[in-house]
Amino acid sequence: VLIDGKPTRTIEPIEGGVSILDQTRLPHAIERIVLRTAEDCAHAIRTMQVRGAPLIGVTAAYGLAFALKKDPTSAERASQLLLSSRPTAVNLRWAIERMRKAIAESIDPWIEAGKIAEEDVETCKAIGASGSRLIQKIAEYKPTVEVLTHCNAGWLACVDWGTALSPIYRAHDAGVRVHVWVSETRPRNQGALTAWELRSHGVPHTLVADNTCGHLLARGAVDLCIVGADRVTARGDVANKIGTYLKALAAREANVPFYVAFPHSTIDWTIERGEDIPIEERATDEVTHIGNVRIAPEGTAAYNPAFDVTPARLVTAFVTERGVCASDGLSTLYAK
Ligand code: MRU
Repeated sequence: VLIDGKPTRTIEPIEGGVSILDQTRLPHAIERIVLRTAEDCAHAIRTMQVRGAPLIGVTAAYGLAFALKKDPTSAERASQLLLSSRPTAVNLRWAIERMRKAIAESIDPWIEAGKIAEEDVETCKAIGASGSRLIQKIAEYKPTVEVLTHCNAGWLACVDWGTALSPIYRAHDAGVRVHVWVSETRPRNQGALTAWELRSHGVPHTLVADNTCGHLLARGAVDLCIVGADRVTARGDVANKIGTYLKALAAREANVPFYVAFPHSTIDWTIERGEDIPIEERATDEVTHIGNVRIAPEGTAAYNPAFDVTPARLVTAFVTERGVCASDGLSTLYAK
């Protein structure tokens, strides 16, 4: 991605550490900070300085590499620390398991973490190629393709390109006219990050309150929905940012295709049922406050699950680096 004409990634290796784009400062300020230890990485994941399933995985991989450089006997302790930083995105566990395997095979952890990061870029690019065809098909009979997305599943959630936004960038770059409805994604407002990304890339878009999406779908203002995922079970149930399920329901009612884009590292082959996905519960002040401003009376009880589960039956198709498949077709697509 280019920011102010300069090629930029969310995470970049530097001497003795990695430089990350601090996402808690966006979209107001573009600030990079340096992580040098496993503790730094766990802290960055927990506080959402880095966020988005693929990027969380890459950051954890570097975290483990830092720990092992300092103390070659610390693999177990550092893995547990990193694994406890956020519970829902399975990419974190995937990255730690891949690193542990590499370590067992005497592969340099720093090299392996770098490989995971590079592969993420290639994977997201391939997701873009798979998904852009869906957009292009609609462009054959409509002057502007209207897309709805939720949360941020763009390059900020990955190393580069993104998952759900990658097909949009690809189609836009190929000259297809795309307009994106961006739902704001209360309470953490990741939609603002999506708007910032789309603006930087020159993709036309409109930010809407989460509650507006059903109305847009019912009025025929959306040709397709595409979102990312934090964990997809073997049978195709999808955990994604809270509010995704409601959009999938509204899309089904409106007969609008609902796509979910993700890389192989987001699939949890160990579980079948969406109900078994651990759902992160975040601090209630994210609901009772906007920024530092209290919007609910003192003492109001609040509940703040960060993700919900969309059952496979509501998903039209999955968009992956291996191509597009029906939501019950993952095991065939990834069969060795
Ligand atoms: O809580 P976040 O911001 O880390 O949420 C993760 C996400 O960005 C989304 O759920 C996204 O759609 C999946 S990650 C590409």
